Order: sequence, then C-alpha cells, then structure tokens
Amino acid sequence: MRLGLNIVAAGAHASGWRMPQAQADAALDIKLWMRMAQAAERACFHFMFWADGIAVRHSARDADELSYNGRIDVFEPLTLIGALSAVTERLGFIASASTTYNEPYHIARKFASLDHISQGRVGWNVVTSWSENEAHNFGRDSHMEHGLRYRRAEEFVDVVFGLWDGWEDDAFIRDKASGRYFDPAKLHMLDHKGEIFSVKGPLNVARPVQGYPVIAQAGSSGPGQNLGARIADLIYTAQKTREDAVAFYASVKAHGAAAGRSPDTMLVMPGILPILGRTRQEARDRFEQLQDLVHPRLGLPLLADSYGDLSHLPPDAPLPPPIARNNTVKSGHEKLVALGRQPGMTIAKLYKIMAGATGHNVVVGTPADVADLMEDWFTAHACDGFNIMPPFMPEPAIEAFEWLIPELQRRGLAQTEYEGDGTLRGSLGLGRPAHGAYRHRMAPALAEQG
Ligand SMILES: Cc1cc2nc3c(=O)[nH]c(=O)nc-3n(C[C@H](O)[C@H](O)[C@H](O)COP(=O)(O)O)c2cc1C
Repeated sequence: MRLGLNIVAAGAHASGWRMPQAQADAALDIKLWMRMAQAAERACFHFMFWADGIAVRHSARDADELSYNGRIDVFEPLTLIGALSAVTERLGFIASASTTYNEPYHIARKFASLDHISQGRVGWNVVTSWSENEAHNFGRDSHMEHGLRYRRAEEFVDVVFGLWDGWEDDAFIRDKASGRYFDPAKLHMLDHKGEIFSVKGPLNVARPVQGYPVIAQAGSSGPGQNLGARIADLIYTAQKTREDAVAFYASVKAHGAAAGRSPDTMLVMPGILPILGRTRQEARDRFEQLQDLVHPRLGLPLLADSYGDLSHLPPDAPLPPPIARNNTVKSGHEKLVALGRQPGMTIAKLYKIMAGATGHNVVVGTPADVADLMEDWFTAHACDGFNIMPPFMPEPAIEAFEWLIPELQRRGLAQTEYEGDGTLRGSLGLGRPAHGAYRHRMAPALAEQG
C-alpha cells in the first residue's frame, strides 16, 4: 500500500495541541519537521503531505472565539518543502496549492523549482480552496462560486502543464563552442489565451525532473471528481466507512476509465487518524482525553458553515436544519449534514467528530487493530493506501513510525525499502511522462493550440 504522512498544522486533531505531551508550537518548529521527515523516510513513507490555505481559515464570529483555534500560525508549505528536501533523499513531499488564489505561472514555476531542488520528489495537491477567509485576502468580498472555481481550475491546470511542457527534456544544450544556450526547436511557447487566463510562456525553469510533478486532487463533488479523473495521480478523500470508501473507490476508477485513464494510474488514498495505544483501553483513554479537550468555542465554528450560529442552543440539543446552500466544500457539507441526521446526534457530538479529523476516519486501538482495518480496506478495494494523520506532534507520529508501520511491514502491506528511480513518481509506481504526454488529456481548446 502507498503511505503518506498528512500534516495539518501542529496535528490533525483540532485539540491535539492541548494534550499534556503535545508540542503546542510544533507547526513552526523547523528542527522538528526535519527530524520528522527523516523518521518518515526511515519508515519508508512514500511522502509527507501538507494541506494548506492562504489565510487563517476559520468560521469564528470574532477574535475571542478565534482565540480557541490552534491552527493559526503555519509554514507556507512550499517553502518548508524546500528545506526538508535538503535533509532527505527518497521521501516525497506534496503540498496543496489553490487554483483560485494563485496564477498558473506562479504554481508552475514553484513546483518546477521544487522538483529540481528535491531531485524529483514533489507533488501538487490541486485544490480550489474552501474558505471564505481566503477570498478576503485577495480582493474579493466572497468566495468564488463552486462551479466557477472548478472552471477556473480546469483551465489553470492545463496552463500549468503547458508551461511544464514549454521545454523538452534536453532543450538546454549550453553549447559553449557555438554560444547556443538552448535548442530553439525544443522550446514550445504556450501562447495561451483562454476564457480566464492569458499566458505566453515559456517558463523560466527547465522541464521538471519528473516530467510533471505528481498531481494529487481532493475534490469529491461531481466537478471535483471530473477534474481528478483528468489530471490526478493521487486522489485524496475523507471516508468514514468501508462501504462508502469502496463505493468512492469504484466511482473514481470509473471516472478515470471514462476519461481514458488506466485505473492503476489513479491511486485513491483516504485519510486515517489513528489513536494508538499499547492496549485497547489505553487507546480509548487517549481518544476520550482528546475529545474532552474540544472547547465549545472551538467546536461551534466548525459547524457554522453548514448550520450557522448554534451558540444559542444547548450542546446536547439535536441539530437544527442545515443552511440550504454551502459554497465551501460541497462533498464535505453533504457528509456533515448526513452525520447530523444520524439518530441521537447532538451539536456537541457533531463538533467533536469534526474536531477529531474533519470527517476523516478515526481509528482507535492497538497497532494490530489499526493495521487490521487498513488491511481490510486495502484488500476490499476501498483504497490503494492511506494518508496517516497524526492527531498531534510528535508522539503519535513517532508511534506510527515505530508501532504501526512495522506491523504493516510484517504483514507485507508496507514497503521496507524504496523502489524506483529515486523520484516520487518512481516510488509510487507511476511512470515518468514523456514530453507532451499531457496533451491528450487537455481540455480540447488548449490541445488544439498546442
Ligand atoms: C482530503 C481532503 C483534503 C483537502 N485539502 C485541501 C487543502 O489543503 N486546501 C484546500 O483549499 N482545500 C482542500 N480540500 C478541499 C478540496 O480540495 C476542493 O478543492 C474544494 O474544497 C471543493 O471540494 P468538492 O469538490 O468536494 O466540493 C480538501 C478536501 C479533502 C476531501
């Protein structure tokens, strides 16, 4: 199975930083991330992955309520990846970057640079952003409408791939005798003039080491899955049950096949938040301790995008009807509302679920229990691997390296050494795309120009 270590600020549980043994300032500790990257590499993880947004993302009503949120100060992940790639050899690094609040040239350039810096070990998680807060940092009163975000994303990625294909692999001859630096026959000007973007090119970086950095994608809505089917090597997703995960997996592979992709080139990797203990009781106690630390003033805003302000209701009240339309994460909204309708669900129970792992699967037990679940999902075609989400730092990450991974390795489910040519594509078992390979996947208008 493919394994990623998914980092969210100082931990994937919103209250994890409050655990007595947690390092509350982990998010901005570069020395810690260096040690973690090296340990993840020793444990043979395929990659580390940082989710990201270009704002303090929250739905708190004011600074007082916001002050209970522990995901405020984080590294810009591409900058962090630059540093971490210098202290590792084989581990891959993937970061989210938004197609809504960036320009394609910026993204093509940064990931191409990082791919050279890391010698072929980076990936881009293509996201359209879900938070209204990002809009407010980029001259907009409200977040771009969901459909328009995806239209922009479709054109955005085509431009990025077009820029990465601006130079053939051997374009830079640097011939001292003739004075020619590059072979002009191997330069392909993009000259893109589309509905949203106008980008001439070429990129001021050579073609990435991997041809194209690994592409991950995490939209689960209809337009999200269509985009993923066209471009993604990895599909991230939040699935709470094996049944839903099996259905999602089949849907992704069917979307891929309909887009002319081979299903083994699209790897589905749901998140999993393990709460490990040496015994089941220890794991249960740790989980209970974490959930008890979810402050109501942290919890209520986690529901606000879907339910509005619930502060006037008692925490043990059932959920009121949700807000009719939600422009943030469509699939996330639908899942939240479905959970909210479950018998016996209360406001506090629901916000504690969201604080736990934002809709990802929380698995509480011994390393063998967690490995059992992972093995079951993997063999049932619910996934091709997992994004493991430590609830806080660093202890649960170290336990994943020292307890869980060896258990998976003993079962022959996790790799014990890196495979491939040293690149992230190679270790994931994805081939290196030839120059121009993306063209047949482009939106038709751009393919014709190409
Ligand atoms: C597992 C997972 C991880 C995600 N990571 C990010 C992220 O880091 N940054 C971000 O802006 N959106 C992130 N998203 C949101 C989606 O990528 C997506 O672009 C958008 O919010 C719309 O999603 P939808 O197609 O499900 O409606 C994530 C979603 C999921 C399910």
